[in-house]
Amino acid sequence: MTIFQILKTDHNNVKTILKRIEKLDETEQAERLELFEQVKDELLIHLKAEEKAVYLKLKQEDSTRELTFEALEEHGLVQYLLQQIDSVDPEDERWSAKVTVLREVVEHHINDEEKEIFPEMKKSFSSRELGEMAREMEALKKERRIPGRRAFAKAGKRAA
Ligand SMILES: [Fe+2]
Ligand SMILES: [Fe+2]
Repeated sequence: MTIFQILKTDHNNVKTILKRIEKLDETEQAERLELFEQVKDELLIHLKAEEKAVYLKLKQEDSTRELTFEALEEHGLVQYLLQQIDSVDPEDERWSAKVTVLREVVEHHINDEEKEIFPEMKKSFSSRELGEMAREMEALKKERRIPGRRAFAKAGKRAA
């Protein structure tokens, strides 16, 4: 897979899970929590691997530097929102409000990456450099993912 296919597959996956969470109501707490833990893992694995395999290189290029700093701020916002959701119970009214804001921020961020950053990457990096990013992205994702275990379980709470 190319780096663009890898990133896009992750993006589609998290968008799908977030939409599924929003369809659940407050009587479906266990399902809400299960899907939230799943999307949290997927998001954090993606953000961390993307920052190392892709953003580090984009920061070194004039054409992508500014966009990358903006994208990094959005990663920070996503992590903040994940913590916020973790801090309330799923039957709390604020829980679904926070999930909706998370979905909006994630969709905005993905859109910026796919519509603005991807085209610049295609212009500024050679196919060899893009290939290296793809290999590193896959290796970093694999490192984080231990079968049957949460990559980012909250200590002492809801650990699978
Ligand atoms: Fe991404
Ligand atoms: Fe990102």
